[in-house]
Amino acid sequence: MIEFKHITKRFVRDRTPIFALRDVDLTIQKGEIFGIIGESGAGKSTLLRLINGLEHPTQGTVKVDGVSLGGMSKADLRQLRLRTGMIFQHFQLIQSRNVADNIAFALKAAGVKRADFPERIRELVSLVGLEGFETNFPSQLSGGQKQRVGIARALANNPTVLLCDEATSALDPVTTLQILELLKDLNERLGLTIVLITHEIDVVKQICHRVAVMSQGEVVEVASTYDLFSQAKHPVTQHYVDTALQIELPERILQATPGKIIRLQFTGEKTGESTLSEAIRRYDISVSILHGKVDYIQDVAFGVLIVSLTGSSDQIAPALDWLATELHALEVIQDVA
Ligand SMILES: Nc1ncnc2c1ncn2[C@@H]1O[C@H](COP(=O)(O)OP(=O)(O)OP(=O)(O)O)[C@@H](O)[C@H]1O
Ligand SMILES: [Mg+2]
Repeated sequence: MIEFKHITKRFVRDRTPIFALRDVDLTIQKGEIFGIIGESGAGKSTLLRLINGLEHPTQGTVKVDGVSLGGMSKADLRQLRLRTGMIFQHFQLIQSRNVADNIAFALKAAGVKRADFPERIRELVSLVGLEGFETNFPSQLSGGQKQRVGIARALANNPTVLLCDEATSALDPVTTLQILELLKDLNERLGLTIVLITHEIDVVKQICHRVAVMSQGEVVEVASTYDLFSQAKHPVTQHYVDTALQIELPERILQATPGKIIRLQFTGEKTGESTLSEAIRRYDISVSILHGKVDYIQDVAFGVLIVSLTGSSDQIAPALDWLATELHALEVIQDVA
């Protein structure tokens, strides 16, 4: 659906070049919910704005639905923009117009016949769950409701792609979840391709099928959400995953705990506890759990435990070997005799 090939974007500020994007290669499939995560200034918004031609690459090509944006006429670009909905952190609503009129504004821009407005407004209002709020002004809506209007407007022209730039960053966690659920529902019901920028790994965890991790203008890792959590490769990715799983053991505890301390990861099929109890039976070792968390990534359990193992070395060594084959991942993080 969207293809970036060798994309470089250079801005010049005070005569100094700034590379917002460096040699980015990325393909986003039709019907995907694709997340882009990265620190502030990583180049996320710049990448997103290339998709609807709001920004042009310094080098490289962007293709949407097989068509290269570089070769498009102004009129084609306008059509593309209409087929590409976009929502923002601060909603971008017209304050002086009510919900129905905000949506009407987008319908007008999309060239919908005025006679069709009432029907389309009804459809869009119901699609985003705002029935009964048609005559409210933006100042009379909650943040979540404002973003629903933003989504309705973005969908006015039946787009095939929806771009979301930090669309939930101004919302509280509960409202964020509701908006993410709505996006997921739209993705499933309308087959909408969604590209979603965020700096919150929790957002990725909730709805993204695949993710690109960006840092300093580069895409440093692309993976399915599950793989990202279970086998993060790049340090930046690892940092996000650690944040989400919050399993840093306080230094004080580490120092006060003798023996081998291991960090183990397990996936849906096999829980960490059951594997550990089997290790205890087989090898006659003692295990104490120091820290742990079970998380769910799109309904698949994923857990991390930090445990200390004690026993004689001829029990511990084979136990570790066995655990390493049974578990998703295992790492010895401290080994004090
Ligand atoms: N129009 C511009 N002129 C000059 N520099 C720009 C312009 N747009 C973006 N940049 C620079 O390009 C880099 C990437 O910016 P971008 O907005 O894409 O980052 P981002 O990942 O979206 O960050 P944030 O999370 O803060 O929104 C930054 O260093 C930014 O200052
Ligand atoms: Mg941005």
